[in-house]
Amino acid sequence: MKKCIILISGRGSNLQSILKKIDKKSIVAVMTDNPNAMGLLIAKKNEIETCIVSKTTNKQKFKDDLYNKILFYKPDLIILAGFMSILSEKIVNEFYPNILNIHPSLLPKFAGLNTHSRVLKANEINHGCTVHIVDNGIDTGPFITQKALLIKKSDTPESLEKRVLALEHTIYPEVIKWFLKNDPIIKNNVVINFKQ
Ligand code: GRF
Repeated sequence: MKKCIILISGRGSNLQSILKKIDKKSIVAVMTDNPNAMGLLIAKKNEIETCIVSKTTNKQKFKDDLYNKILFYKPDLIILAGFMSILSEKIVNEFYPNILNIHPSLLPKFAGLNTHSRVLKANEINHGCTVHIVDNGIDTGPFITQKALLIKKSDTPESLEKRVLALEHTIYPEVIKWFLKNDPIIKNNVVINFKQ
């Protein structure tokens, strides 16, 4: 069985949804850059090893610490679930294409932060989330799958966050399950063999 580590920085709702759907034995650790991440409690409740890599003023040291800790766990797959630090090129180059991320927009639209308010400002019709492989760009790696919703007149950034998060919780565990058993074939920046 392939092994994964899950990287979080905050509340960990995606972590929770992943834990409900995949075999916990395949998760070797939950790692964070934030000692106060609520998601750590979820990991502990589920008896999963946790690991804190604290951010220091020395950016290179943080990058090195993160790299060394990840290597220590020897994961086949790295899962970003609300991890707010950018992975170093060294990590990405070593693990590509086995790093996954979920992003709250229909990429390539709205890469980066604050997607829900930006989508509303842009008068979009649709919004949603994307699961993709992480490369060295910001939210630019090969697409695996997306799920969309129609924006309502009454939507606010908060309501959109809630509605998109519910979609995230349905698609991310399915992708992870698949990656734990399969290897991706990538063509034109899309994973062409992923089947839900
Ligand atoms: C989610 O919106 C995810 O798309 C983004 O960060 C947020 C993490 O939320 N990458 P949670 O910590 O999983 O609740």
